[in-house]
Amino acid sequence: PLPYWPEFSEVLFTTVNNWDQIQKFKAKDDDLLICTYPKSGTTWTQEIVDMIEQNGDVEKCQRSVIHLRHPFIECDWHIIVTDGYDNLCKINIFSIYYTHFPKIIYVARNAKDCMVSYYHFQRMSQTLPEPGTWEEYFENFMNGKVSCGPWYDHVKGWWKAKDKHQILFLFYEDMKEVSEELRGTNLDEMILDKIVQETSFEKMKENPMINRSTVPKTIMDQSISPFMRKGIVGDWKNHFTVAQNEKFNNDYKKKMEGTSLTFRMEI
Ligand code: A3P
Repeated sequence: PLPYWPEFSEVLFTTVNNWDQIQKFKAKDDDLLICTYPKSGTTWTQEIVDMIEQNGDVEKCQRSVIHLRHPFIECDWHIIVTDGYDNLCKINIFSIYYTHFPKIIYVARNAKDCMVSYYHFQRMSQTLPEPGTWEEYFENFMNGKVSCGPWYDHVKGWWKAKDKHQILFLFYEDMKEVSEELRGTNLDEMILDKIVQETSFEKMKENPMINRSTVPKTIMDQSISPFMRKGIVGDWKNHFTVAQNEKFNNDYKKKMEGTSLTFRMEI
C-alpha cells in the first residue's frame, strides 16, 4: 500500500533522485495547480474547485477522500505516477514549477492565523517534528524555521510572480466572505448556493471525505487537535500575548518592507 504521507526526508531524497525528470516536467493544458503556504486554506480551495468542476454535484465530490482527488504533487508522487500522469514524475517542493502550469490558484492567509493553525497542526501531526511550546513555535515561525520555510518569502514570491504568470491570487480572509464574492460569476445561482453551503466550515468538518477521519492516528492524532480546527479569522488573538504581538508586528514590518501585499488580520 502507498504511504499516506512519506517522511519529509523521503520527499527530499526522491526530489534529488528524480531531478532529470523534474526538469523535463510539462503540465497538460487543463492542469490546475492549487498552491498555498501550509494552513492557508488548501483543503477548502480544493473542495470549492472540485465542486465547481463537478457542477455542484455533491455525490461526485464524494468519490474519494480529498487528498486523493487532488494529489499533493510534492508528496504523492507515487500516486501520481501510478495513476498514469505520464509527464508528471516528481515535482520539486520549492515552487519553481509555476511557470509550467497553465492555471494556478494561490491562496494566502494572514501570518498570525497561519502560525496558530500550523502550530496546532504540528501538535497533532505525527510525521512533522514536535512544535515545542507556543513560545518556541512563535520564534521559529518568525525565523522561518518550520517545514516549508519562511511564510514571508512564500507569499511575497507568489505576489510578485502573479504579475508575470496567470495566477489567481486569493486571500483566506476574503474567502470567508465568499458567498458575496462569488456572486457575479457565471455560475448558475442554485449551483452557487449549493457550493457555498457545502464548502462551509461546519459542513466540511462533518464530511468524512474531507476531515481526514480515515487517516490513522499514527499519522494524525486528531484527539490532540482536529484537522478541521476552527476555520476563523483572528484566532491569533487567543494565542498572541501583547508582548508577542508587538514583537511580531515590528519584525513583520521589516520582513514585508517594499511589498504592496497587505493582509487583513481580522474581518
Ligand atoms: P484553522 O486551523 O485556523 O482552523 P489547509 O487546508 O491549507 O491545511 O488549511 C487549514 C486551515 O483552513 C484550518 O484553519 C482549517 O480549519 C481551515 N479551513 C478548512 N476548511 C475551511 C472552510 N470551509 N472554511 C474556513 N476555514 C477552513
